[in-house]
Amino acid sequence: MATPHIESREEDISNIVLMPGDPLRAKMIAEEFLTDSKLVNTVRGMLAYTGYYKGKKVTVFASGMGNASIGIYSYELFKFYNVDKIIRIGSCGAYHQDIDLYSIILVDKSYSKSVYANILDGEDIDYIESSKDLSNHIRQVAQDKNISLYCGNIYCTDVFYSETDNIEELYYNKGCLGTEMESFALFANAKKLNKEAACILTVSDNLVTKQETTSEERQNSFTTMIKLALESIL
Ligand code: HPA
Repeated sequence: MATPHIESREEDISNIVLMPGDPLRAKMIAEEFLTDSKLVNTVRGMLAYTGYYKGKKVTVFASGMGNASIGIYSYELFKFYNVDKIIRIGSCGAYHQDIDLYSIILVDKSYSKSVYANILDGEDIDYIESSKDLSNHIRQVAQDKNISLYCGNIYCTDVFYSETDNIEELYYNKGCLGTEMESFALFANAKKLNKEAACILTVSDNLVTKQETTSEERQNSFTTMIKLALESIL
């Protein structure tokens, strides 16, 4: 059943979805990691592909940027496409000088000042946990595959160009290893709809040392995170 934002047929969406922010990353993952993949959504260029990883059916669906965008797609996938699990695979900025570029972070709780959860459900909360079972499973897979992970909270901001963020307060008092823009709405939807969500991030820039990656480097360097997510759905 199509929704205002997704044209896919229900049978063309797997119950497990990997969600990068960038539509072109969804395309790259389908082309490089999946077999028999087919394009299942083009509405607004929010590309989605369904294919197989080691025989397991999976959909890779782009979320776009920000809570508002991932909020729409993840809600519709959970509610109208019977999706059970969404793993966001994205990038983040790190809040400590020792967290190197390309480090991988598995998000425990998303901390946010966003009103998304409040508008969704009337809940006045600023931390939302990822789904424990799914995150524990990802952590176990990482351990089995010798992939090193940081596990901690992330600050989910609605404003990329904020001039008010206090990095030390967010790192030391809120336990946030870095910042991104989508985990809060994803976790809020999963909680509201009794589904599972996790978030794996690759550090694309360091907000203390000011080191950053180019978009081309990012495109090519997220392989470890993608493999971790794919191995975690088997
Ligand atoms: N801020 C917010 N989101 C991000 C960043 C950042 O510095 N880097 C990657 N995603």
